[in-house]
Order: sequence, then structure tokens, then C-alpha cells
Amino acid sequence: MFADLYRHARTEAGAVMTIATVATAPVGFAYGHNWRWDRATDPWSTELRNRLGEQAAQRIENSFALELLAVTPTASGAGIGRQLLSSLLKAAMSSTAWLQTTDIDSPARHLYLATGWRTLGRGPDAPNGKPGLVMINQTPHQD
Ligand SMILES: CC(C)(COP(=O)(O)OP(=O)(O)OC[C@H]1O[C@@H](n2cnc3c(N)ncnc32)[C@H](O)[C@@H]1OP(=O)(O)O)[C@@H](O)C(=O)NCCC(=O)NCCS
Repeated sequence: MFADLYRHARTEAGAVMTIATVATAPVGFAYGHNWRWDRATDPWSTELRNRLGEQAAQRIENSFALELLAVTPTASGAGIGRQLLSSLLKAAMSSTAWLQTTDIDSPARHLYLATGWRTLGRGPDAPNGKPGLVMINQTPHQD
């Protein structure tokens, strides 16, 4: 499933990926792409739009959708996730980014809150069966 999602994301406009390596071994990965509602007509995206409501949905039109951020457990806690996130947002074409994460007290939610992400609303159900937490980040571009 993750391979299929990545294959599709690579065909989207503004696709960006970052990879972290330690001694040439990949230990972390993040990617995303530009988000336009006229391209997002699959059932998951339709549910996202319905749950967010039109006002919140319009805030992420033409933004950057962060699809995946992951660090291998053996390399976690060493600043790699934070660095991947920062690199990805710097490379993104929009200064507004959004993501959905599981709404639990997780390392990911800590990281997002610590780096300026804020709640936009609720999205489709996450793997825990509860509505996902949709977050938004608005960062001025830094060259
Ligand atoms: C989220 C994730 C990418 C963080 O990667 P990481 O390399 O371990 O994170 P970092 O070392 O850069 O830490 C950055 C911040 O994450 C948070 N964090 C990391 N590990 C944490 C832990 N065990 N408990 C609580 N917060 C944690 C902290 O806010 C930390 O900042 P701080 O060090 O200033 O306190 C990693 O835990 C992961 O891959 N999780 C599973 C996949 C996932 O949930 N991805 C996001 C889906 S939307």
C-alpha cells in the first residue's frame, strides 16, 4: 500500500522527497507534493474535504501535502525526523503545508507541535479507527 501511494505521489506536481542516510544506509524518509482539490477526487480525499468543511479545505488549496515522514526505530531520537521535516518544507513550492496524523500522544504529534504545526480539523479515520488529526503549517520561505 505504501509503495502504491509513493508511486502515485511521484506523478503529482511539486513532488519532493528527502532521505536521511547514516554511512550510506537509509534511515529516514519523507515526501509530499502539491495539493489541489481538483486533483484530489479519490474517496479518501473526498472524505477529508467533507470532514474538514469547505472553509478549512480552502486553506490547503495549492499547499504542500506532507504524505509521509518516517525514521527507522534504531535511528530515532537523534534529530533525524526534525531535520527531514525541515528539509522537506524548505524544498516545497508552497509556504503552507498540511498533513494528517493519528490523534494520539505520539512522537510525531510532539514533533509537529514543536515545529509550529497547528490543528486544522479532523480527517478520515486513522488506523486506530478514530478521525485523523489534520494539521497545518505556515512558514515563510527561507532561502
Ligand atoms: C515521528 C518521527 C519521524 C520522529 O523522528 P525522530 O528522528 O525520532 O525525531 P527527532 O529525534 O528529530 O525528534 C524531534 C522531535 O520529535 C519528538 N519526539 C521524538 N521522539 C519522541 C518520543 N519518543 N516521545 C515524544 N516525543 C518525541 C520531540 O518533539 C522531538 O523534539 P525534541 O528532541 O526537541 O524533544 C519518528 O518517531 C517516526 O518515524 N515515527 C513513526 C512514523 C510516524 O509516526 N510518522 C509520522 C506520521 S504523520
